[in-house]
Amino acid sequence: MDNRQDVDWAALEAAAVAAMKNAYAPYSKFPVGAAALTGNGRIVTGCNVENASYGLTLCAECVLVGELQMTGGGQLQAFYCVDGEGNVLMPCGRCRQLLYEFRAPGMQLMTSQGIKTMDQVLPDAFGPEHLEETR
Ligand code: THU
Repeated sequence: MDNRQDVDWAALEAAAVAAMKNAYAPYSKFPVGAAALTGNGRIVTGCNVENASYGLTLCAECVLVGELQMTGGGQLQAFYCVDGEGNVLMPCGRCRQLLYEFRAPGMQLMTSQGIKTMDQVLPDAFGPEHLEETR
């Protein structure tokens, strides 16, 4: 069962920075790390994994949602993403959609302008609630 909890943003930042150090980014030379707090208190992380076929690159958020699912699933309550210098990075458009799928109600994201909600960074989103299967 997912429960709302206080967010330790410093711990999420540290986990994102640690994840970023695992990045495989020989083409862009732009390492990215992401970390998120789940509803049952886990921290899941991801780094970007590039490919010689550039368009096949996995963003850090893609690896993060894979880890979420592989370690028990659940919902994302809070999210933090960093670039190679540890600066806050906004998730790209595709990754906002990936995160939206697994958002907890009121999910928060650290941004360069402070904490925002998932609904603020992906307004009017298309999601599982629009599909017959999930109604
Ligand atoms: N990247 C991410 O990992 N997440 C984002 O949200 C933005 C972009 C990666 C993809 C690529 O490896 C590098 O950053 C440069 O675009």
